Amino acid sequence: MQWGLENRLAQIIRPETGRTVMLAIDHGYFQGPTTGLEEPGKTVAPLLPYCDALSPTKGILQYCIDPLTAPPIILRVSGGNSMARRDELDDEILTCTIEQAVALNAVGVSISIYVGTEHQRQTIQNLATMADEAHKYGLVVLGISAVGASLGELREPGKEQEFARYLALASRIAAEHGADISKTYYVPGHFDKVVGGCPIPIVLAGGKKVPEAEALEFSYNAIQDGASGVDMGRNIFQAESPVAMIQAVRAVVHEGKASEEAYELYQSLAK
Ligand code: 5RP
Repeated sequence: MQWGLENRLAQIIRPETGRTVMLAIDHGYFQGPTTGLEEPGKTVAPLLPYCDALSPTKGILQYCIDPLTAPPIILRVSGGNSMARRDELDDEILTCTIEQAVALNAVGVSISIYVGTEHQRQTIQNLATMADEAHKYGLVVLGISAVGASLGELREPGKEQEFARYLALASRIAAEHGADISKTYYVPGHFDKVVGGCPIPIVLAGGKKVPEAEALEFSYNAIQDGASGVDMGRNIFQAESPVAMIQAVRAVVHEGKASEEAYELYQSLAK
């Protein structure tokens, strides 16, 4: 049934460019009403025409997204924790069955792995188990290299090489356990090492909100280093103008526009 998997993959990673712009709106599964996603349906509706795929949880999908206009869905199927116990964020379980994902017409499922944390084994097992299930039905598996609270210091300035080594390890482990796409963070100056050691396409999570020009710049740099696109959330839906931002991100990802040019596009669309 390889055809089904390839067909679903082509709905996510556009065959015309070999790249993708996914919109991540799965933050509420551990953060609750994240800024910009208090009313997800309202935020997301005007963005839908510009995303190749949408990454929600099953709750937000059913309560807030119109089934008549939804793009291909990559369903978040790991969770079970919350910001209320920050130190336990890596203690994830599977929160959705493959039958539910199929019933919701998902083209793929996303699962976090927390490599290097107390619960790395359990989260890698979540990924491996769900990958086996998903592939029976031809669904795409997105492995997310999450950084638990205990590894937060890896993001500090000056630790880029170490952070890149960590993300290379985690992305490779995601691929080795059945992921078809790896989602990870950008590391300036070293991202090519992350992409180089991973046999599956890598898409970029945006991370915390930064100025629009900066987000477009790291997206451009990641694409230059070999990323296959983005699965971006806060840097799109928390932008001053989310609709302009997603179009500017598309220009970088699908048209190869330089970040300065994309920022000019953002500014003119935001007006
Ligand atoms: C955490 C996640 C997120 O919930 C989310 O998808 C990240 O998106 P962004 O960093 O671009 O807001 O994957 O591991």
